[in-house]
Amino acid sequence: MTAAAECTKIQPLSLPDELILMLLNDQTGYFHQVPGWRLQCAVAGAVLAELSLLSRIDTDMESLVLLDPTETGDPALDPLLKEIADEPDQRNARYWVERFAGQAETVIDLTLDRLVDQEILEHHAGDFWTLTPAHWLAHQRSDAEKSTASQFIRTRISEAIFTDMIPDPRDVIVICLVNTCDVFRFMFELNEHAEERIGLICRMDLIGRSIAEAVEQNIASPTGRPSALSRRIPRVPLHRLLLNPHARTGHLPALFADLAKEYGPVFQIKLPTAKPKTFLAGASVNRWVHKSGRMHLRAGGYFADFENVFGASGVLPSLDGGDHFRLRKAMSPAYSRERLAGQLDQLFRLVRKFMATWTVGETYQARSLCRAMVNEQISSLHVGVDTQDLIDDLVTYKERALSVHIIKIMPEFTLKTPGMRRRAKAIDEMLERVRRVHTPAQRAGCPRNLADDVLGLNVSDPQLVPESNLRFALTATGLTSVYFGDMLSFAIYAMISQPEIHERIRSEADALFDNGDPDGEAFTLAATDVTHRFLQECLRMYPVIAMSVRDVVNSCVVEGHELPVGSRVYIAQTASHYMDDVFPDPFSFDIDRYLPPQSAHRSFGFAPYGLGTHTCLGIRQALLQMTVNMMMIAHYFTISASPSDYELRFNPIPSMKPTKKLKFHIAGQRRELPA
Ligand code: HEM
Repeated sequence: MTAAAECTKIQPLSLPDELILMLLNDQTGYFHQVPGWRLQCAVAGAVLAELSLLSRIDTDMESLVLLDPTETGDPALDPLLKEIADEPDQRNARYWVERFAGQAETVIDLTLDRLVDQEILEHHAGDFWTLTPAHWLAHQRSDAEKSTASQFIRTRISEAIFTDMIPDPRDVIVICLVNTCDVFRFMFELNEHAEERIGLICRMDLIGRSIAEAVEQNIASPTGRPSALSRRIPRVPLHRLLLNPHARTGHLPALFADLAKEYGPVFQIKLPTAKPKTFLAGASVNRWVHKSGRMHLRAGGYFADFENVFGASGVLPSLDGGDHFRLRKAMSPAYSRERLAGQLDQLFRLVRKFMATWTVGETYQARSLCRAMVNEQISSLHVGVDTQDLIDDLVTYKERALSVHIIKIMPEFTLKTPGMRRRAKAIDEMLERVRRVHTPAQRAGCPRNLADDVLGLNVSDPQLVPESNLRFALTATGLTSVYFGDMLSFAIYAMISQPEIHERIRSEADALFDNGDPDGEAFTLAATDVTHRFLQECLRMYPVIAMSVRDVVNSCVVEGHELPVGSRVYIAQTASHYMDDVFPDPFSFDIDRYLPPQSAHRSFGFAPYGLGTHTCLGIRQALLQMTVNMMMIAHYFTISASPSDYELRFNPIPSMKPTKKLKFHIAGQRRELPA
């Protein structure tokens, strides 16, 4: 560890740090549900209180005065201190709480980053945070190694509330701020005496009092009631929708980008005989979904009918809140890059096994070829069985169930026709195969796979993963093969239709594979630079999951429009991929847009893997697997598109894929496939 890092580690916590740690709910990986405005005011209050403790400002009930404009060195505090210093008029605490509330999100982000840097918090994909044992506490307490920073603060705060000790001034302020957020009742069992004591403590400190009053006044003011400000959601006239060129080519991201440009980031579409649907599109709403969606949106509702088809309820994509986070944590090893990196030999063997069935001179339908290629790998790696004979039935049935129950464009009876009933049997057959090979004796000595994790959770936590969910969870590889396989179709098409890029991917592949099979460590960013940037551009231009669906469970205002409780929203998270203020010249395939210093792909405008709590759990694993597939194809084969003048068109329902017309012609084999 560098001296600088060591130095950061032992920095004392600021009041914004302590407030965030108090509010973090380790079970859900996010904050206690504090209404947005209260949280923003409390964070603004924490900043002012910290500035006051650092003797930069002084405040009483009437005024707030600057004592010393010298920077504190804390990036969460200094910009706000400067604003106070630059203000010509003298204002009171209420004014500054209201003014800084709008910047609370930045303060929270900086505070979270700092707590992660100090290894007090751990950040998880999907913007979840958990507490780590706090080593810095060693400087403060001898038993620190066993506790977390949050436990340490909570112990202090509970001592202040539940004993008659005179609390430390910092603790008084923390108590005022947490009380403002109205979440003590979730942290401690409060009796009447404790509530009185909290009230008493909150009156002890002048800063805490003035901030709490400012917060109360702000909550009561009209700015605290956002729905009063909301505007009507514009509706897209049907003819504008139908005349859009992207509606005809099935290009959903470009269609929604156009509509957002014309009607704003929140708009409605009403098809004849259907209720109006509300869409969100653009980088600003993506940001809202990612950051705030967890307070207002749920995934459970829209997924319920679909999972019911499999007899399941509460599987990973449909869970919300604490159980969702718990299941994500428990399943993340199965979806990690490390899991796949440890099984690369098996992956290489499976890719070659599939490619060995290709005949030079033959032409294959792109979609089924790629789905089968991915299924060969995924079903073997994830659930330890071969399902190549079942994949067509599995995919047809699952796609129909998605169209009926998620997209809702087909009537329910279409899932119960004799043909569909026959196909549904593939699900039970697959489940039976997985169960047969997952007895303890047969798995002894085998590397752990996804089925081991799911079955293990069913035993250790049968409420979280009940047996009734296994039919869904153990056959979900069928859906992964669809999304991932269609992504592979797009990527192969993009590679073979751009000879210069094809050549560069081939050079990288040859460098890695020419001297035998590489190991997991070899797939570094430097060794796969072109392939990696190429795949990023494929994900931008051809996102297979263009949109997600959620239900509003707490009313909210997004970009000035109210989303009422009970409404359903369609989040077109990939529309921003085609907005030229996010990605200039968005229709040109340009792998150089991922070169530094460009950073659009690190913004909320780039969302091929979704947003918020349900962000794809397999991002890094998928990227490694996709890289291996593209490189091995480029290394061993020469493929061309058929027909040679094929122009890419999309079939967007239920997910984005190339039309059936796209075929791949195996034009040549560059080298023998090793046995
Ligand atoms: C390039 C291919 C892939 C793309 C574009 C993709 C995209 C996505 C998207 C957009 C979501 C969020 C859906 C929503 O919000 O409703 C998602 C969820 C998920 N993905 Fe992926 N995915 C890909 C490959 C994979 C692979 C290979 C795996 C497994 C190794 C995987 C595992 C998951 C899981 C488990 C979830 C559910 C997470 C949750 O609900 O908390 N994905 N994916």
